[in-house]
Amino acid sequence: MVARQGPKAIAPRHISRCRAEAPESSEKMLWVKAFHIVFMVTWFAGLFYLPRLFVYHATVDDAAAHERFCVMEKRLLAIMTIGAVLTAFFGAWLLWLRPGLLAAGWLQAKLLLVVLLAGYHAWCGQLVAVFKRGENRYSENWYRWFNEVPTLLLIAIVLLAIVKPF
Ligand code: HEM
Repeated sequence: MVARQGPKAIAPRHISRCRAEAPESSEKMLWVKAFHIVFMVTWFAGLFYLPRLFVYHATVDDAAAHERFCVMEKRLLAIMTIGAVLTAFFGAWLLWLRPGLLAAGWLQAKLLLVVLLAGYHAWCGQLVAVFKRGENRYSENWYRWFNEVPTLLLIAIVLLAIVKPF
């Protein structure tokens, strides 16, 4: 015999998911959240691919290939910076729509990791300039490890945003 389960109590940290909770702002919230995620994906496309370009660039020794990598890195950095700014813009808009979220532990932890992510992004920007000057000192292998950092941050941030563990 299958036991039937009654309705479960909703934990306070999950209440913001309920559209009936604040009908006047929740429709807008969904639109803003959708664009928040679209630009987060744009940002991460760059955060994953730019360090991969560094892996290949670190092994290059002819001038033409070096120039090609410099152009690709500069353009990718510009696109991912637009993604970062718009992710933060739509994230801030979400907070403006629901300021009470700022009291949630998961959101505070998420914002801390986003600050680390922004630091990683800035480091990538510095490395683009270092490569352009022909002054790279790190090995291909070092960049392979460097390339893993955004993966770890992505997993942690998405778990915090979706599971809201605390
Ligand atoms: C300045 C940066 C950011 C701010 C201020 C911000 C803020 C927010 C806020 C307020 C929400 C709504 C939460 C809710 O409705 O429960 C949200 C949702 C979300 N954010 Fe961010 N966020 C930022 C960056 C990021 C980044 C970098 C990622 C991914 C790596 C991310 C992933 C998500 C996801 C997946 C959701 C949807 C959660 C859900 O609907 O359950 N956010 N964000």
